Amino acid sequence: MALVKSTILLCLVSASHSLLPRVATTGRFQSQACSAASTPVELEDASSNKSILPPGRPTNRFVRWLFDDTIALLSPKDMKLLNRKEKFGPIFKTNFLLRPTVFLTDVDYIETFSKYERKNKHSFEAFFPPHHHKLFGENSLLVLSGEKHTRLRGLIMASLTPIMTKSYEPLIMESVQSFLKVLRTDTKDSYAELVPRIRSLFTGIMLQVILGTRDVSADLVNDISIWALGLVAPPLTALPFTTAGKAMKARARIVEQLKKLMDDRSILDESGLLARLLDASDEDNGRLSKGEIIDNLFALVFAGSDTTAAAATSICLTLSKNPGLRKTMSENPDNIEPFVTQVLEAFPSAPFQMRETTREIRVGDYCIPSNWLVAFGFAAALSDNVPPTPERLKPSDDKAPNSVAFGRGPRRCPGRFLACSELEVMTQALLDVELELEPNQNLEQQYTPGFFPVDGLKAKVV
Ligand code: HEM
Repeated sequence: MALVKSTILLCLVSASHSLLPRVATTGRFQSQACSAASTPVELEDASSNKSILPPGRPTNRFVRWLFDDTIALLSPKDMKLLNRKEKFGPIFKTNFLLRPTVFLTDVDYIETFSKYERKNKHSFEAFFPPHHHKLFGENSLLVLSGEKHTRLRGLIMASLTPIMTKSYEPLIMESVQSFLKVLRTDTKDSYAELVPRIRSLFTGIMLQVILGTRDVSADLVNDISIWALGLVAPPLTALPFTTAGKAMKARARIVEQLKKLMDDRSILDESGLLARLLDASDEDNGRLSKGEIIDNLFALVFAGSDTTAAAATSICLTLSKNPGLRKTMSENPDNIEPFVTQVLEAFPSAPFQMRETTREIRVGDYCIPSNWLVAFGFAAALSDNVPPTPERLKPSDDKAPNSVAFGRGPRRCPGRFLACSELEVMTQALLDVELELEPNQNLEQQYTPGFFPVDGLKAKVV
């Protein structure tokens, strides 16, 4: 676990090195642009209605390395970060990857910033380390910003609407049923670690939804896992023998396979997401190019597999700890959706998302200089939420895809309807299965970066 975290850290920190010269030159700018750039007393000025920096740690370029919060941000349940929230309030400044960063830790601020982002699209850009751009591809929603992001997002979302998503449910149900059948056999005499199995279940489901069939080649699954490892490895994509270099090679092989499928529609299942993306068009008759589709299939697999797998693991854990929930949902299936919403909010799978400001922005009394990072801290904002209990489950008009666990604003999760379908199907199937947890295991969940129990959730079907 520690190794994974330090690898991410290593990879992100090394990635940030290429950004450092830019940060250093903008550091001078920052103190000129907003008052009180490095003094820790800005909060006192808040009532004066003057534009000031949020309170928090010093972000002065000479000392920011002493006050860097990268590790606390990568483990958002870390008490240090929550203490910081208690000390400075829901919005505070700190440093991430040695860059000055404003951290939003409550729903109101996330909503305010998201509204600002929607109205002022050119004020923010997506932020990912440079080697992620190579692994995702230049047309990926994850790395794009501005008009191109809006155009591609509209075309992609048209294939992920609730109606489109409904049509994938039989495929999802079949995969979940066969997963539980195998699990029942494999755990007849012993416990098994559920986390690796659930992760491969949800990567498999994402690929099946894309291709429209359960028949996904083992080579493709294997190449996807090699590619995904590159995202949490040191950013050495140019060196072919490194994990990131191998990931780039796996990417090239996946691209070849996808191109073949797109060039010969007779071998492509028309009910899959890939076929729908090929046919998608917007009101100006704009369409997605094959390159744009390919880059975004990587985005969907990356953003849609481990997040959903982590939520499904939290569902297994919650049901095993509180058997009364199964009864409440079996008696009234309308309770399944609030159950999924409450699980998503008690165990947020996507801890935070970063943006970079492209100009000075002002929100309320606060001013955030150009070239700062802004972290939308979904997990910190939901940190007071507790797991569902039978008493708290009642059908409601609050729909799971509206949960803040999926973000807000112009980058809000486009896969939220699909994710909720997958999780509702999984919950439904688990109502007929009792999972017994192995005693004496560590059930604490940690971001690695997916939010999974430390010991892999050892359980058996009884
Ligand atoms: C429980 C499951 C999931 C959770 C909790 C989740 C959460 C999130 C969050 C918080 C964001 C960031 C929003 C922001 O930057 O403001 C996001 C973005 C994204 N998600 Fe999801 N997600 C889930 C499942 C999925 C699935 C299944 C897909 C694919 C079908 C998907 C595709 C994406 C993409 C492509 C983005 C980037 C959108 C953009 O930048 O415009 N996610 N998700």
